[in-house]
Amino acid sequence: MVKLKVNGETREVEATADTPLLWVLRDELKLVGTKFGCGIAQCGACTVHIDGSAVRSCTTRAGAVGDAEITTIEGLSGPAAEAVQEAWRAVDVPQCGYCQSGQVMSATALLAKNSAPDDAAIDGAMHGNVCRCATYQRIRQAIHDAAAKLEG
Ligand code: FES
Ligand code: FES
Repeated sequence: MVKLKVNGETREVEATADTPLLWVLRDELKLVGTKFGCGIAQCGACTVHIDGSAVRSCTTRAGAVGDAEITTIEGLSGPAAEAVQEAWRAVDVPQCGYCQSGQVMSATALLAKNSAPDDAAIDGAMHGNVCRCATYQRIRQAIHDAAAKLEG
């Protein structure tokens, strides 16, 4: 049994402490917006926030999270999240969509800490999020647009 704080709620789950957080989110809590891609921290599909930082949930043990706040795509909120979601829609970023919740989580974590990232900062924050449809140009454009909106 593990206790987790997910999207503002404390949840008790049956999983053992060494269960990957990704499987707790998807299988036990039915938060299926977080995707499984590689399982070895190489693709970013499973990205969630832990205390606001982008983290790969496939290689994070449920028992290691402790009292930290977990946010999934379902619980994403706040100015950076809104700016990212609006820009994603305006730029029409997704193609197949599979990688996109992870992309949005990484982009939001970046903008929450740096509201005016340059291309290098964007590439640094996003390099672990792989998109097999190669939407990288649109992702970068959407992050710039979201940043401009945040800067007002
Ligand atoms: S599924 Fe976690 S990084 Fe690929
Ligand atoms: S939109 Fe298809 S994998 Fe990224």
